[in-house]
Amino acid sequence: MTEDKERRGAFYGRRIGKSLRGAQQDAMVRLLPRYRLSLDEGATPTALFPHTPEGLWLEIGFGGGEHLLSHAARRPGFGFIGVEPFINGMARMLVDLEKAGLANIRLFDMDAALLLDRLPDGCLEGADLFYPDPWPKRRHWKRRFVRADNLDRLARVIRRGGTFRVASDVPHYVGWTLAEVRAHGAFRWTAETADDWRTPYPHWPGTRYEAWAMDCGRTPTYLTFKRT
Ligand SMILES: C[S@@+](CC[C@H](N)C(=O)[O-])C[C@H]1O[C@@H](n2cnc3c(N)ncnc32)[C@H](O)[C@@H]1O
Repeated sequence: MTEDKERRGAFYGRRIGKSLRGAQQDAMVRLLPRYRLSLDEGATPTALFPHTPEGLWLEIGFGGGEHLLSHAARRPGFGFIGVEPFINGMARMLVDLEKAGLANIRLFDMDAALLLDRLPDGCLEGADLFYPDPWPKRRHWKRRFVRADNLDRLARVIRRGGTFRVASDVPHYVGWTLAEVRAHGAFRWTAETADDWRTPYPHWPGTRYEAWAMDCGRTPTYLTFKRT
């Protein structure tokens, strides 16, 4: 493994899309150093924010940040950590974060597994994974974020009774997630009726990826698990 790959962890997706221009390029230079957290800071996550947060919430792969911004605005007492290694998503988020003026968001731009390994036991109230890369080819399934090693990581850092949410528009990934989580054993799926996985989460603002998936005729599934 090269040193750079080691530093980024086992992230398999794209890091860079279209070249950045204007406000997004400026945001990466000017704002990323302000909001980015280092791996060492992960060991004391409550110190990441100006005020001691009532609770901490993680969003893995926030894309353009639509949900993370809305969630953080709604819960100003909480501290939010957003993870997104895709530079174009991070740049979009930074532009919108500055406009929103929220002090309760910090960002991490590498593989979420690296950060999860640094966070203290039981420190999270919840973690969100919305529309993880589906990796449809069988030979790539092992790249899917929902898998035993990442569930171990999440089970260690989410407090007992805490929440883990996974949304997907890919039926195979939904079935895969339910099977992996069940086999893992540390989380309980909370659904009681079909409405529970067909209805968006409360206060759901939608995400950019979700809007695209729905335009393509796909149907979202919203899973909620509790740490047992
Ligand atoms: C299909 S996109 C969905 C983005 C966003 N959640 C949405 O709904 O618009 C999946 C995102 O997960 C990110 N991602 C993939 N693997 C990741 C990892 N190991 N750690 C953190 N983010 C990751 C990708 O960079 C990508 O932006």
